[in-house]
Parts: sequence; structure tokens; C-alpha cells
Amino acid sequence: MPVKVFIKTYGCQMNERDTEAIAGMLARQGYSIVNDENAADILIFNTCSVREQAERKAIGKIGIMKKLKKQKPHLIIGIMGCMAQNLGEKLLQDLPHADFVIGTGRLHKLPETLALIRDERRQLSLLTGGKEILTSMDTHYRMANAKDYQAYIAVMRGCNRFCSYCIVPHVRGREFSREIGDVVAEAKGLAADGVREIMLLGQNVAAFGLGGDTNPPPEDCSPLADLLFELNKIDGLCRIRFVSPYPSYFTDKLISTMGALEKVCHNIHLPLQSGSDRILKKMNRQYTAGKYLEIVNKLRKAMPDITFSTDIIVGFPGETDEDFEATREMMKKVGYDNAFIFKYSPRRGTPAAAMSDQTVRDVKEERNQILLRELHDYTAVHNKNCIGSIQEVLVEGPSRRNDKRWSGKTGTFKVVVFEPDKNTQRGELVKVRIIRATSATLFGKLVVTEPPFK
Ligand code: 5AD
Ligand code: SF4
Repeated sequence: MPVKVFIKTYGCQMNERDTEAIAGMLARQGYSIVNDENAADILIFNTCSVREQAERKAIGKIGIMKKLKKQKPHLIIGIMGCMAQNLGEKLLQDLPHADFVIGTGRLHKLPETLALIRDERRQLSLLTGGKEILTSMDTHYRMANAKDYQAYIAVMRGCNRFCSYCIVPHVRGREFSREIGDVVAEAKGLAADGVREIMLLGQNVAAFGLGGDTNPPPEDCSPLADLLFELNKIDGLCRIRFVSPYPSYFTDKLISTMGALEKVCHNIHLPLQSGSDRILKKMNRQYTAGKYLEIVNKLRKAMPDITFSTDIIVGFPGETDEDFEATREMMKKVGYDNAFIFKYSPRRGTPAAAMSDQTVRDVKEERNQILLRELHDYTAVHNKNCIGSIQEVLVEGPSRRNDKRWSGKTGTFKVVVFEPDKNTQRGELVKVRIIRATSATLFGKLVVTEPPFK
């Protein structure tokens, strides 16, 4: 009987990618990956520490597992990822039923760690060391049975920007990029396996290939653009996305390359954080609201149908009503199609956590609600404007609410729900005429089904 492993993932796409790599690595060694925590011999929690809430959630969940361990003493419980890196051995003291913590630079050591724990049954921590993870893990470990048409590729890791609120540079370490040839080879392999859409991942993805320099490159330079150019040539791939880019790295070269390459999706996640120059400065963000708008306008000029999403933090220390109004104003000016709005969460060891002018909880909550409401209204209008248009949709499969309807996404990252015909297949590009829209979803009728990709 193979040893059964359950992995729970918290946080961002990089963590999802890491989980996929861990699962692939273990499956190759004969472990079986299961979806039911009660059926598992090994429980792994791949954690996030970007906000306190994420840590609290994971700690709560791992705490509950104490009961399961009492019933099944052979159970191994491991904590990996950003929270493991952040809280380290303290986690093993606070959660004595946990067997190991493995930090962000040591994920590839999981199989050895499991073998050691089975032999020695003592708590272990692996928290130091780093870069070889890129070479040993990012050469695409996927699940043997992963037949999916979408895939993540981690092209760079770490962040050198040190925004004053952010723990990522502290737990993920310095920027390190892979070679273009290495990423292209991985993408070709994925395309040969049937992958149609790739999402390039990096904590500071537009700094790909810049060697960690925090000064934005000259306007005619962008290694990310060079990478996109190479990826665009790969047969079988039809969509390329990337996340998350820091605004200042959108050089003219990156913008014009994106506009010229037909496979690069016209949707950008462009973290704003705040619309107030004063707060941006306190956040140690390197741009002003004006500069951000300039980039948005250049991107719109190169790709008129482009859509934007963003990250916004409300209640950063010292954020006044005026600062908040500036953020509302920017949301209106840019016209985002989606926004992740976060209440500022102090992270120990970051400069903002030590600022004396922390915003009170109620104000954060109120500002959060205001932005969520306004976002909902804006997206409802944007989506209504799509009624009557024909959208190209990458088919994802039966929709969550009603399996007679299928859903997929446009290149601009809008969810489209439609009734499939008998030939409709997952991973296929179809055309859908939009007949109805809500703030979250477009609804339409299939127009033309292209022959399925082989
Ligand atoms: N508090 C709230 N939100 C945060 N983010 C990063 N650090 C914090 C924090 N301390 C948000 C930023 C970032 C996103 C991934 O998480 O908006 O872009
Ligand atoms: Fe955090 Fe700023 Fe780096 Fe993004 S760019 S990961 S917000 S430090």
C-alpha cells in the first residue's frame, strides 16, 4: 500500500505551484496524493504569512489535527512555505504534534525529511539555504496524471523591493531568475503535454532577468519581453499570462512587445497598493499615482481591449481620509475589472509594523467595504458593456453551480458561462456571443467551435 499524503495550500499562486511540485516529486517516489485528510498518513501544510489572518488560519487548522494524531500516532504532520520560514521552530514548540518545518528555500528536501522522520521520530526543522530549489524543483515537476491545459511556470523567485509593509522579501529571500532557455524548454514540454495556457510566476515577475537591480531598467530593456517573445513561438500554446509585475518595470519595450505578441493576454494584474503619493512613499513604492496612470495609458494604447486588476491596501499607518479618497479616485480613473482589497496587517520585522500611527480596525473595515462596493459597481458596468460582443473563451469545463453549463475565461480574464454543444471540450478555444452580464460573470451562446486541438 502506498503511503498517502494530503497537502493543504494557503496563499498565492507560487504556493500552488510549489504544492504541485512537491506532489509531483512525492508521486514519483511512490507516494499517493489524496484529497481526504482523514485518509492520509502524512499531512503537509504549505503556508502563507503575507497577512496575520493567513497565519492564524493555518495555525488553527494544524492545531485541530492534534486530535487526528492522537487517533493515528503514525501520522506525520509537516509545515512548509512562508509561515514555516517566518515562525520557524516556534511552530514546533507551539504545535508539539507537528513533526517538521521546512522553509521556502528547502522545499525540495521534503522526501529526505520524511524518510528521516520515519526512522527517527523526532521534530526536524530545515530553514536555511536556498537557490538550488530553482534548478531541482522548477524543472517542471507535475503530477504524473496532470492532464490539465493550464500550467504555472515559476520564472523567478524572491523580491528585492522591500515595500515597508511586506514580509515577502524576508521569507522568500532575494530575487533569483531562471535562464530564458530553461523556461522555454519547460514551456515546450508543457505544450507537448497538451498545455494551452501558461502563467509565468514571480514575486516580482517583471524584474525577471534583471539580476536583482532595483532601479527600473531603461525603456528599451526588458528580459521579460525577450522571454515572452520566445514563448510566443511555441506551437500549441495559445495564451501567456504573468503575475505579479511591479509597475515601474513596464518599460516601453515590455509594453510594445506585449502589444505585438498575439498569445500574450490583454489582462494585467498591476498592484497599485494606494492612490496617495504620500502613502506610496511611506510604503517604499517607487512610483507616484501619476506615473502609474502613465503606464496604464501606455498599456491601453498598445492594447485597447486590455483589462486591469490590482491589489490595494486600506488602513496603512497614517492613511488619512484624503489619502483614502486618492485611492478611490485612482480606482475610478483606471477602471479595474478586479481588485484584491486588503486591510493592512502589521507584519513583525517590517518597517510599517513599527510605525506609530497605526490605523484602527473600524476604519480599515469601513474603507474596505467602501472599495468593495464601488468595485462591484464598476465591474457591473464594464461587464454590461460586453453584451452583444463575441468573446474568445478558453473552455474550463462544467461550471461550479450548474453542470449543464460550462465556463471558461476570455483573454481579458473574464468568466464566461455558456451551454456547450456535444463537441465542446476542455482546453479548447470557442467563440461565445455575450447576451447577459453580472458584475462577476458574462453569460452567452456558443457561436463557432473550432476543431479540438490535438
Ligand atoms: N497587509 C495587508 N496586505 C498586504 N499585502 C502584502 N503585505 C501586506 C500586509 N502587511 C498585499 C499587497 C500585495 C498582496 C499580495 O498582499 O497588496 O500586493
Ligand atoms: Fe512585497 Fe513589494 Fe516585493 Fe510585492 S514588490 S513581494 S509587495 S516587497
